[in-house]
Amino acid sequence: MPDRKKIVVITGAGISAESGLSTFRDSGGLWEGYDIHEVASIEGWRKDPETVLNFYNLRRKQALKAKPNKAHKALAHLQNYYDVQIITQNVDNLHEKAGSDRVLHLHGELNKAKSSEVDDHVIEIGDRPIKIGDKAADGSQLRPHVVWFGEMVPNLEIAAEMTSKADILIVIGTSLVVYPAAGLIDYVKNGSDKFIIDPSEPEFRDLREWQHIKEKAGIGTPKLVENLITKVKETD
Ligand code: APR
Repeated sequence: MPDRKKIVVITGAGISAESGLSTFRDSGGLWEGYDIHEVASIEGWRKDPETVLNFYNLRRKQALKAKPNKAHKALAHLQNYYDVQIITQNVDNLHEKAGSDRVLHLHGELNKAKSSEVDDHVIEIGDRPIKIGDKAADGSQLRPHVVWFGEMVPNLEIAAEMTSKADILIVIGTSLVVYPAAGLIDYVKNGSDKFIIDPSEPEFRDLREWQHIKEKAGIGTPKLVENLITKVKETD
């Protein structure tokens, strides 16, 4: 059998919308009444850590009881036919729940917490809330393991490397307006097939080389996955 083709899938909040988790920009930058820039920024954390913790405790509770939808499941199935790497901006774990084996989180994970002093002191917390006074091993206040506005994206370099090797790039449910994650698509090599699945018109770039599947992720992803599997079966 020839080597499997490499597919990189970049996902954002839109892929989890049909699992009941709101996107950011569709809700006008407000999330359950919280201003996203207040609760997802390092300045917000310094100013009012309790509000930030409450916000993430709420998101953790909602996200961890959410179920993967048809889009997450279709991508997990795709790995039976292709070498699939998911790069997600989402902090939920719906790709993992659906069975995808290779998931890189760019913006962290809700079910983990870390020291507010040392970036790589990360622990699993599952669905437990983080409270003021909860301490990391180094004695500092525990904080969510998420990347906020104004912080470095530690997995960016590895994500860029993965994207540069893709034969097929699929972007699902992200406005691609938040950098540096948005810059990832520039790493794709010439000649790769490029698909974007989003019910809205993407504003982010010149899309002449992209095939836009203008549907919700739960409809568009299984369709694209089916086509890609048919293609691989024809060439086998
Ligand atoms: N299926 C597919 N796409 C959808 C769906 C759906 N059912 N519903 C909405 N979308 C699309 C929207 O049209 C939009 O293009 O998903 C995109 C969501 O964009 P954003 O809300 O901006 O989310 P995202 O791109 O993931 O945000 C990036 O910003 O707030 C920060 O760190 C946070 O990771 C997040 C980053």
